[in-house]
Amino acid sequence: MSEDKDTLTVTDNRTGKSYELPIENDSIRAMDLRAIKVNEDDFGMLSYDPGYKNTASCRSEITFIDGARGILRYRGYPIDQLAEQSSFLEVAYLIVNGELPSKRQLDDWVGEVTIHTFVHENVKKFIDGFHHDAHPMGILVSTVGALSTFYPGAKVIEDPRIRHEQIIRLIAKFPTLAAFAYRHSIGMRYAYPDNDLSFAGNFLNMMWKTTELQYEPNPVLEEAMDKLFILHADHEQNCSTTAMRTIGSSDADPYSAAAGAVAALYGPKHGGANEAVLKMLEEVGSVHDIPDYVKRVKAGDFRLMGFGHRVYKNYDPRAKVIRELAHQVFDVTGKNPLIDIAVELEKIALEDEFFVNKKLYPNVDFYSGIIYQAMGFPVSMFPVLFAIGRIPGWLAQWQENLSDDEQAIARPRQIYIGEDERDYVPLSER
Ligand code: CMC
Repeated sequence: MSEDKDTLTVTDNRTGKSYELPIENDSIRAMDLRAIKVNEDDFGMLSYDPGYKNTASCRSEITFIDGARGILRYRGYPIDQLAEQSSFLEVAYLIVNGELPSKRQLDDWVGEVTIHTFVHENVKKFIDGFHHDAHPMGILVSTVGALSTFYPGAKVIEDPRIRHEQIIRLIAKFPTLAAFAYRHSIGMRYAYPDNDLSFAGNFLNMMWKTTELQYEPNPVLEEAMDKLFILHADHEQNCSTTAMRTIGSSDADPYSAAAGAVAALYGPKHGGANEAVLKMLEEVGSVHDIPDYVKRVKAGDFRLMGFGHRVYKNYDPRAKVIRELAHQVFDVTGKNPLIDIAVELEKIALEDEFFVNKKLYPNVDFYSGIIYQAMGFPVSMFPVLFAIGRIPGWLAQWQENLSDDEQAIARPRQIYIGEDERDYVPLSER
């Protein structure tokens, strides 16, 4: 194949005209289609792609996924190596800055995040205003958005120094807002950050501290929490990241954009799927009832939650890490009985032609809810935990979008299929 043949020739059968479109990275530019017209004053051809199933909205250097082979890498580093050997804050640095930090850079970064964990006292006041059973994800959407009013300077998004300040604040304050939202929902006084603890240890402190003078996190659970955050840190152009980039493309401040990303994550098809997995496993009830349940999935009665993915057509590499992590957590917390149903359900599904042919494999949510439940988190906190892990990814993608000269305000086209022009009919004549 010669270099100069990196083009796509399209023939418009309406006119018989041919167009040669450049191919770069196995893609064509949608704008090149605009030249395809029947009449000179036509608008030109559009590509129609609901749900962006085959549209690349950006060029990114952050996360690589090969869905067919089950590969996930942040900045080139395989997810299993990072989960095994790195820490969440180091991964956050890597995702935001592009390279692993030196010892000094990491110390500075961890130091900066640690001293920004506190939130303004007024934040507590408006969390107090939420109804007693408010969903913590609803509280998170609102409080993250409200932070923009505390940092009006964050609007100067062109200044890298100011962007850095907000990145640190958002990574540092997300666990605090999350834990405060939880404590409000169970009527317990807020536990303040303890800056002597690690990022994950401090989060567990703010969640669970009661009367002890200093909370001591269980080291196994602290490490498991940190790994779970790593596994969620970025996942290229998913729904919430697209929301973050889209809102950011209007030059909104990062707090407002992050509030939109959290809102996108709130949906059961995105951040809420592990809750649905737990409900499903409880509904299945026992290992013996699995074949019957699978039969109903195949009949189209409902979907097997935690299975299937838009991008992965192979085992989600994050699910592999979580499945192994589960046993370490259960050694501390006691076994969650749902794990036996999950393992057997996975085995049966992976041997069944229906799932094999459709390339449906367990995704990250198949096992994460089981661990979270064993660690004591209520299901309403599951998407909140996802959000704490995902904030570095959202911020890196937001910053990349702003720094990309090719990007513009996100504004898709539509294909209008409504009524043609018609005259208004007065109410008395309708
Ligand atoms: N159980 C049974 N059938 C399924 C499932 C499933 N979980 N997922 C997809 N299918 C079938 C679907 O019915 C369709 O069949 P057909 O071609 O005969 O109509 C085919 O597989 C393709 O499905 P799709 O809905 O076109 O695929 P999608 O890429 O639009 O959807 C998905 C991806 C994740 C929404 C979907 O697989 C699903 O609903 N899974 C269950 C929910 C879930 O686990 N979500 C968590 C996603 S991972 C977390 C994250 O990254 O946010």
